[in-house]
Amino acid sequence: MREEILAVTADPVEREAEGSLRPRSLDEFIGQKELKEHLGIVLEAATARGEPAGHVLLSGPPGLGKTSLAHVIAKTMEASIRPTSGPALERAGDLAAILTNLEDGDVLFVDEIHRLPRAVEEILYPAMEDGQLDLVIGKGPSATTLRLDLPRFTLVGATTRAGLLTGPLRSRFELSERLDYYPTEDLEEIVRRSAGILGIALDAADVAGAARPPPGEAGSGANEIARRARGTPRIANRLLRRVRDFAQVRAAGVIDVGVARRALEVFRVDKLGLDKVDWAILDAVVNRFSGGPVGLSTLAVAVGEEPDTIADVYEPFLLQLGFLRRTPRGRAATEAAFRYVGIEPPQGTGAARLFGS
Ligand SMILES: Nc1ncnc2c1ncn2[C@@H]1O[C@H](COP(=O)(O)OP(=O)(O)OP(=O)(O)O)[C@@H](O)[C@H]1O
Ligand SMILES: [Mg+2]
Repeated sequence: MREEILAVTADPVEREAEGSLRPRSLDEFIGQKELKEHLGIVLEAATARGEPAGHVLLSGPPGLGKTSLAHVIAKTMEASIRPTSGPALERAGDLAAILTNLEDGDVLFVDEIHRLPRAVEEILYPAMEDGQLDLVIGKGPSATTLRLDLPRFTLVGATTRAGLLTGPLRSRFELSERLDYYPTEDLEEIVRRSAGILGIALDAADVAGAARPPPGEAGSGANEIARRARGTPRIANRLLRRVRDFAQVRAAGVIDVGVARRALEVFRVDKLGLDKVDWAILDAVVNRFSGGPVGLSTLAVAVGEEPDTIADVYEPFLLQLGFLRRTPRGRAATEAAFRYVGIEPPQGTGAARLFGS
């Protein structure tokens, strides 16, 4: 149950539900102020010149809005979006087929771009740089290259692991932006926006004119949901839907702070939004490995997850919370992590040494 609620990535049913909640323009896209400013300038300038925008790379943990932004870019440029993904492009020909079928100005969205096979990536270089496609015809000594001019396009690449991108690929993006976890105030706004779209009665006391705590302060249903959303809009929306279910069945349909709190307790969402896997990681580092440091692969085996999943999905948020630290020899628990799992941090031994400075 807990896993189903908190798993950061979305399943197909959820992706469907996300559709209606997707921001359609930069104005509707909440938070990430600096990124929006950069993107706003680039898109406006390109529009004024009547050209497609430069290639954009979006990186950051799952559920923070990369796919949404790709759609916003296309919409703003009044262009069509052609979505694909790194793992879907197995052979160079797969990408060549997509590129030659683009129309002038299209946005080509490549999700999980760090998973592009090398041979496919090499097709992208001249396509991104010179708008050209080099096709190799035939094999062996008689092989020749055919150079085709491609329609003008904007490549939008999304990745959860910018660090895995090769230098040549990274350098061909004109704009490279990182999405960060959202502060509670922004998530609160996202929750209110989603509640509006879905027709959910959230903090309905507002309507009656009752005072509502200022954004970011505890005391409203929206705030209660936002602070347990792990900094992630996708999770905020998911928690909102679960709280709505609870409110409908157990609380006359209206969500306020009390209802939200009871609902999230029933669904066992921790007050920081940590889930079973987060807890398993903290437990392993703190208890089994005495505070660490412990290597990623050892840790992954200990909690029964893929190393990539830990590195992409779980670790970034635990680092952000200041519960984990990266050391040259692996991941270590901080004093805050010991306290959060209810254990007095050790003095003068393994873990305590790491707390210094
Ligand atoms: N800034 C935002 N404002 C409002 N809603 C947002 C924002 N960012 C994301 N969302 C909501 O969160 C959902 C998930 O976002 P999105 O699918 O764009 O994330 P993602 O970064 O592409 O995730 P993944 O890496 O798993 O593909 C969207 O459907 C949208 O409803
Ligand atoms: Mg996405």
